[in-house]
Amino acid sequence: MLVFNNIEKLQQHLSTIYVENQIGFVPTMGALHQGHLSLIAQSQLKNDITIVSIFINPTQFNNIEDLEKYPRHLESDLKQLESINCDIVFTPNANDIYNNSIIASRFNFDGLEYQMEGAFREGHFDGVGTIVKRLFEIIQPNNAYFGEKDFQQLQIIKALVKQNLFEINIQACEIYREKDGLAMSSRNTRLSSTQRKEVPLIYKTILRVKELFKAESYSNIQSWVSNQFEDNPILSLDYFEITDESTLRTIKSKEIDKKYRAFIAINVGDIRLIDNISL
Ligand code: PAF
Repeated sequence: MLVFNNIEKLQQHLSTIYVENQIGFVPTMGALHQGHLSLIAQSQLKNDITIVSIFINPTQFNNIEDLEKYPRHLESDLKQLESINCDIVFTPNANDIYNNSIIASRFNFDGLEYQMEGAFREGHFDGVGTIVKRLFEIIQPNNAYFGEKDFQQLQIIKALVKQNLFEINIQACEIYREKDGLAMSSRNTRLSSTQRKEVPLIYKTILRVKELFKAESYSNIQSWVSNQFEDNPILSLDYFEITDESTLRTIKSKEIDKKYRAFIAINVGDIRLIDNISL
């Protein structure tokens, strides 16, 4: 496994392998879990070379405490990647990747960026767009892998690829869950044992929403979801929405030929967890 932290050295190496190899790319912020490993496995199945980046991107955090507390496990991440035969790991530093100016560019993603995470985490998707665009320009992969847990991010990355005419296939990968349904996330490692016992309610709730969606109105479902968390001393509801899957605009009325998805964000102390389900 080759580990690069220098952009030019990585690019030099890539220039010798592009012609004969299909490249798969999995961008991460480290603290790797089974969800990341499943993205990597999918890349390894389809590509000759798999590159994983590990970079905690400061511009996508709207809250300095969240950035400071984000789990950092570089050493064990590298061991894990070595053990699953990852080909290349890219671990740039912030000044290099941002050319000494750690500021996000502004993007227009046709309104996708204003809903849900965009509304609750100001500037988040400018930060994501900036780093993913930069990583795509440096690595120029054939395929890039993103989890559906961050479904809004996934739609925004697809828009980014279209706007920039990148020749990169975005591969969406299903949410990887713990046995009790909790969506895998690096932030889960920060949950206390009491919080950990309570969080399966998040998936249980959206599973039930899937059932309710067949017959109930959006406003009935929304009140039902609010009630689930109203008196919960550990979990507090940030938002719950049902949207059109492609525009991410909140549902007004159900149309037969459209795909819908339910999204939820929950605060558990200072830890924020998100999840979603196709309806
Ligand atoms: O999903 C993530 O881990 C991050 O948002 C990403 C895509 C690696 C960009 O920093």
